[in-house]
Amino acid sequence: MTPMIYMVSHAVWLLASPQAGDSPDVFARNACVLCHRDLAGRSSEIVDLEWKRSVHYASGVGCDGCHGGNASVLREQFDDEEAWKTAAHLERNPEFLSVGPREDRFVSGTRGRSVSYFCGRCHALIKEKHLGSPHGDFGDPSCLYCHGQGSHAILPASLDIIDTRPRLESGRCSPCHQQSTMTAVASIRKTLDDTSRLIDESGRQYRELEEAGYHNLELESMHHHSGEVHSQLRRVFHSFNMREIGDFAGEIRSIAERTSRTHQLVSRLREARNHQSLIGLLGAVFLVLFATILLHYKRRFCRDEHDGAVDA
Ligand code: HEC
Ligand code: HEC
Ligand code: HEC
Ligand code: HEC
Ligand code: HEC
Repeated sequence: MTPMIYMVSHAVWLLASPQAGDSPDVFARNACVLCHRDLAGRSSEIVDLEWKRSVHYASGVGCDGCHGGNASVLREQFDDEEAWKTAAHLERNPEFLSVGPREDRFVSGTRGRSVSYFCGRCHALIKEKHLGSPHGDFGDPSCLYCHGQGSHAILPASLDIIDTRPRLESGRCSPCHQQSTMTAVASIRKTLDDTSRLIDESGRQYRELEEAGYHNLELESMHHHSGEVHSQLRRVFHSFNMREIGDFAGEIRSIAERTSRTHQLVSRLREARNHQSLIGLLGAVFLVLFATILLHYKRRFCRDEHDGAVDA
């Protein structure tokens, strides 16, 4: 790529990227953002301090992604702010709390169990698993309790959310889990940590095998399969059902074991080959030395014979 084309494509990328600053972003004409960021108090806080730090902003999910409504109405189409707002908010959805949002309706805030319906529009499997878990049943903790810092600052998910620290150290799970049930929390954390480490290790071994020129279709498909199983596990574990989690972890373990056995075998073969070529090299050096010595003696011997002949 010439530098010119590179600069142009980079500039296009910057303009298209939602993180690239405030004005030329994908939300530049989004009615919800345009109006709400200028409202006083909590509303502008939601836009600037929470949503803009979130995974959703970074992935192009706007206010309407969760709340519904019509984000494409423009200010200039209306006489006043109130008419603009009404057009954007559409019809309120009073049924929401029990049945979840309809795509064409507007939904305001929500709490507890019904947060799952909000998020479950896009994270359907997680919603289902969460609602079937002890937490979903109880109505608490919600998706936001585990994933949010403030209702809209939803950050990338990590296992650190499963926090076994006691109440004194303000652990996230300790308000409801004391010693006896914290054992179950710790055991889920350990299973998920171990699984995640196995996946990393097995990925490393797989890449080493590839670099060594070892290609095997079965291993390759196993490697991809383990990635899929892990991403499935990251969703399914929201059931907080130890047996279900154990099944997934077991499948990943067996793939990791097979990768590791292949890795060992191939490493041993390579060692043996290196070993053999070392022996071969030593043999060759020895032969060359031997030949040199022979030649040397042969020359000396011939010269002695020759010298002897002169003497005689
Ligand atoms: C013209 C300004 C304007 C536009 C455009 C607008 N809103 Fe609002 N919104 C408001 C105001 C003002 C409030 C405060 C409560 C009210 O007056 O209904 C509000 C309240 C809300 C609430 C809280 C509702 C509640 O019951 O507490 C949500 C959620 C919301 N808006 C989301 C959206 C979404 C999503 C969009 C885009 C589809 C949008 N807004 C477009 C001005 C606007
Ligand atoms: C990922 C989903 C999601 C997105 C995106 C989202 N919201 Fe919300 N919003 C919620 C949820 C869930 C609640 C209820 C929070 C609670 O009860 O603590 C809420 C509540 C609100 C409220 C009520 C006040 C409050 O804090 O409870 C307002 C106003 C609001 N949102 C505006 C917005 C605006 C403006 C945007 C876009 C900048 C936006 N939301 C984007 C999920 C979302
Ligand atoms: C309009 C669709 C949509 C809605 C509704 C939605 N999300 Fe998301 N969410 C996404 C997209 C797109 C991503 C980024 C791609 C991905 O990681 O799946 C994402 C990412 C996430 C992540 C980070 C995942 C990771 O890999 O680290 C979390 C956590 C999350 N969402 C939680 C929520 C919660 C909680 C709600 C409800 C308050 C919600 N989402 C509502 C679309 C949505
Ligand atoms: C008790 C805490 C807890 C609750 C409740 C919870 N999550 Fe999670 N969630 C986690 C943890 C921990 C991870 C990270 C798992 C990992 O890294 O393996 C995660 C991962 C995710 C991911 C990333 C999944 C992927 O495909 O990579 C999304 C999206 C998500 N959660 C959304 C939600 C939604 C939506 C809800 C509510 C329906 C919810 N979570 C409820 C703890 C929770
Ligand atoms: C608002 C209260 C509350 C919070 C906060 C909470 N839980 Fe729970 N959790 C419960 C309830 C209630 C149950 C079901 C009854 C029980 O086992 O104590 C439960 C059950 C569980 C179980 C199943 C226990 C078993 O014996 O099978 C696990 C695992 C779990 N929670 C993990 C977590 C994690 C991880 C966190 C922190 C991210 C967390 N919980 C935060 C209320 C909570």
